[in-house]
Amino acid sequence: QLMKVFVTRRIPPEGMKILRQSGICSLSVWDSDEPVPHAELLKGVAGVHGILCLLTDRINAEVLDAAGPSLKVISTLSVGFDHLAIDEIKKRGIRVGYTPDVLTDATAELTVALLLATARRLPEGIQEVKSGGWSSWKPLWLCGYGLSGSTVGVVGLGRIGMAIAQRLKPFGVKRLLYSGRHPKPQASEVDGEHVPLEVLVSKSDFVVVSCALTPETQGLCDKAFFSKMKKTAVFVNTSRGAVVNQEDLFEALSTGQIAAAGLDVTTPEPLPVDHPLLTLKNCVVLPHIGSATYSTRGTMAELTATNLLAGLMGTAMPSELTL
Ligand code: GLV
Ligand code: GLV
Repeated sequence: QLMKVFVTRRIPPEGMKILRQSGICSLSVWDSDEPVPHAELLKGVAGVHGILCLLTDRINAEVLDAAGPSLKVISTLSVGFDHLAIDEIKKRGIRVGYTPDVLTDATAELTVALLLATARRLPEGIQEVKSGGWSSWKPLWLCGYGLSGSTVGVVGLGRIGMAIAQRLKPFGVKRLLYSGRHPKPQASEVDGEHVPLEVLVSKSDFVVVSCALTPETQGLCDKAFFSKMKKTAVFVNTSRGAVVNQEDLFEALSTGQIAAAGLDVTTPEPLPVDHPLLTLKNCVVLPHIGSATYSTRGTMAELTATNLLAGLMGTAMPSELTL
């Protein structure tokens, strides 16, 4: 008898192909580009052995109970797993697959793009060209901040943080600071200096957040954090929106406490179009596209499918989360 799998969204065909060709599962797919409504998720997972989910699906005790004791594996198409109730999952002996490594390069590239776009005011410039605001070359117009000779601070030097540091160093970054619980041996590859968070925040010209969302990092970037930053500093977040207190960020940006912010992640997602942050010229917001290259999303789908099958068969996963 085939094992039942619920796939919570239309995913890249590379992943579906692997699931279909496995011959071990019967698939039920929420075949849409939009998230599955909660009620449909609860219905869809009833009695399944595996769930293939996205970071937009909150997999909590209610969902796990709706699935019931048949559930062996949850495979998420993401590196982040803050949407999964890990304690509840662990308690039930369910295995979890995720997608580290394969999206590191794409996410680091997007972070560099967002940092430069924010610091050099690209969206503002584009808007001026389109609206007729470009009247002449002007010495004092649309000036921003450059990386050459700067100090960059990376909050969370994990896989993605390292890849960001490796890409930024060749721009002529003078000092590379990083914070986190432990010094990382690999930091020497980017001449990274492990410093307390307060030091990083106060010394950096660019503060780049690349840490996982955990109870310790939730709301980490708050009023106290922004008040320690230089008035000329640029803040960039490509991790999770909830690491930032957005009201405090809005205040810091609108009062000139910091120069600018680039966000690929927000709370909530999507950010409502009338959100105060979107009224600010010095805030660049992207719709959570860190890993969005065709090839990376295809590879993520393959890995997610392969993790799921391994979980169903009880074999080793290519990328299993240690619970
Ligand atoms: C994206 O944010 C991911 O966690 O993969
Ligand atoms: C986080 O999971 C990272 O890869 O940095």
